Amino acid sequence: MKDVKGKVAFITGGASGMGLGMARAFAAAGMKVMVADIEAEPAKRAADELTGKGYEAAWLQVDVTKLDQMHAAAKKTVDTFGKVHLISNNAGIGVFGMSETCDMRNWHWVVDVNLWGVVHGLQAFVPLILSHGEGGHVTSTASMAGMAGLRGAGPYNATKFAVVGIMETFAAEHRKDNISSSVLCPGLVATNIASSTRNRQEEYGGAAKASDKGISATELAKGLNPDAVGRQVLEAIQENQFYIFTDPSLRHIIETRTKRILQGYDWAANCKALKGEKQAGPLPGGLLTK
Ligand SMILES: NC(=O)c1ccc[n+]([C@@H]2O[C@H](COP(=O)([O-])OP(=O)(O)OC[C@H]3O[C@@H](n4cnc5c(N)ncnc54)[C@H](O)[C@@H]3O)[C@@H](O)[C@H]2O)c1
Repeated sequence: MKDVKGKVAFITGGASGMGLGMARAFAAAGMKVMVADIEAEPAKRAADELTGKGYEAAWLQVDVTKLDQMHAAAKKTVDTFGKVHLISNNAGIGVFGMSETCDMRNWHWVVDVNLWGVVHGLQAFVPLILSHGEGGHVTSTASMAGMAGLRGAGPYNATKFAVVGIMETFAAEHRKDNISSSVLCPGLVATNIASSTRNRQEEYGGAAKASDKGISATELAKGLNPDAVGRQVLEAIQENQFYIFTDPSLRHIIETRTKRILQGYDWAANCKALKGEKQAGPLPGGLLTK
């Protein structure tokens, strides 16, 4: 989506961190921005900051885990700005803990926000973006944890791999449509994610102080400026860049994982169980995403 001026952007998790960085970058580029977040006060502050600078912005409270709320948010966005061209499925929370021992409520919480939140965004917004024919863009925030598993974060990794998979498929399915897409895979960024439990919903155990498991606020503070990520996402949208990596020094993570996967093919080529067995060959036409 080269020409963003005057277009309408909806950003989940827009009140803090990278979502706020995107809101600032998109608004400065002339977009109309709907800041959506589960936390009302910071969302209002973010929108006030933007309107105070003369940009067009509004805010709404939404819990991305609830599809009906996302549909209502989509309606409010169109009622406010006339149309919607861009959704950033960015709201996310951090949960640390191993898959087999992580508290089940936290497991459900991280899946509901980080995975179902993205699905709900696609369901509520993509039909609206496609409906006006002016084109648009869908971006979702995954993580480097969607490219290679972080130790001690199986549930978080599961959601972020899922987001990468959904967006790769989305891109292939819509290659010929007037809608581009991207997946953001940040390294460490100096946001408030270390205190994700500040707004954990009652059904998952309620609000709590940041735990000392996982990445601390001090470590996180050494990360990239979230406003720079916001500007990078804008640049990627304008240049139709699908994978958005924020830290080139982490390239080796993907190289190492790819080597390990290919080793599995080398092993399969010589494994006894497959010797002489008939193979289906290429996958049935059209199934493979390119
Ligand atoms: N900070 C990092 O180092 C890092 C690295 C990789 C990926 N990420 C991802 O970046 C995204 C943005 O997180 P951030 O780091 O800016 O953290 P952040 O905590 O600063 O911002 C996340 C925002 O999402 C909102 N949110 C949480 N649950 C919500 C819900 N149910 N509905 C609506 N909004 C909700 C929060 O209120 C908050 O404003 C997340 O998807 C996160 O997983 C962060």
